[in-house]
Amino acid sequence: MGNKLQQTQDMLAKHHRDGDVFVQLMKDTYAGRFNEDFWALWNTRIAPMLSELPVILDLGTGPGTFLRDIHERYPKARAIGVECAEYMLEAASDLPEGCEIITADLHDPHLPLADNSVDAVVASVVLHEMHQPVRTLQEMQRCLKPGGIFYVMDWVRAPLAQYLADSELAVFDRQTPEEELEDLFIHFIEHNRFSVDDLAFMLENTGFRVLEKTLLKEGRMARLVAEKK
Ligand SMILES: C[S@@+](CC[C@H](N)C(=O)[O-])C[C@H]1O[C@@H](n2cnc3c(N)ncnc32)[C@H](O)[C@@H]1O
Repeated sequence: MGNKLQQTQDMLAKHHRDGDVFVQLMKDTYAGRFNEDFWALWNTRIAPMLSELPVILDLGTGPGTFLRDIHERYPKARAIGVECAEYMLEAASDLPEGCEIITADLHDPHLPLADNSVDAVVASVVLHEMHQPVRTLQEMQRCLKPGGIFYVMDWVRAPLAQYLADSELAVFDRQTPEEELEDLFIHFIEHNRFSVDDLAFMLENTGFRVLEKTLLKEGRMARLVAEKK
């Protein structure tokens, strides 16, 4: 288990390239992921389902910005983040009371949370960083209350040309170093792991009903809203 966690941390460190820079990137880009559309969806799909003292889980919470946001909006909520990258744990170490971090590898999580005890789960750009998300989806099925909502937002499969549109690397220039090409193509695979239908298929097969699936950013990302059956 210890060894497995280390393998995941090493894999994530490679994917994130520079941990401290990636922490800052996640902070800087947070408002784009948790934007007006997100909060509109939250207000229609999730807020009405929350109990008086809601338990809200944020998978792959990174620096914990969403937990802080939840704490401000719902001071009585228990806002719990799951994370395992050391630089992220460090960045999330000064969260206010009411926010908690569980250090765990989402590849096979056994969270210290009772069955049917969680109101809502958010997984924002985390599932694509995993070799497989099946055990996480099953653990969410255990922890969520019946009717509880699972929000997933992530990269989905898109053509290489579209992926390269955001890259500054001169991919077809013979002078471009081989290591830089390799790094870019490894990231291409990692950001193109699942289609939106693959994510919906896995949710439907782990005890969820998909209520909504929407492509974002010209089809490069998607968001899904599912409820526990
Ligand atoms: C791209 S960041 C997104 C952070 C945050 N959810 C957000 O949207 O601002 C993905 C996060 O998931 C975490 N993560 C990825 N795989 C994980 C795993 N197997 N176990 C625990 N955390 C994981 C990473 O360390 C990273 O902090």
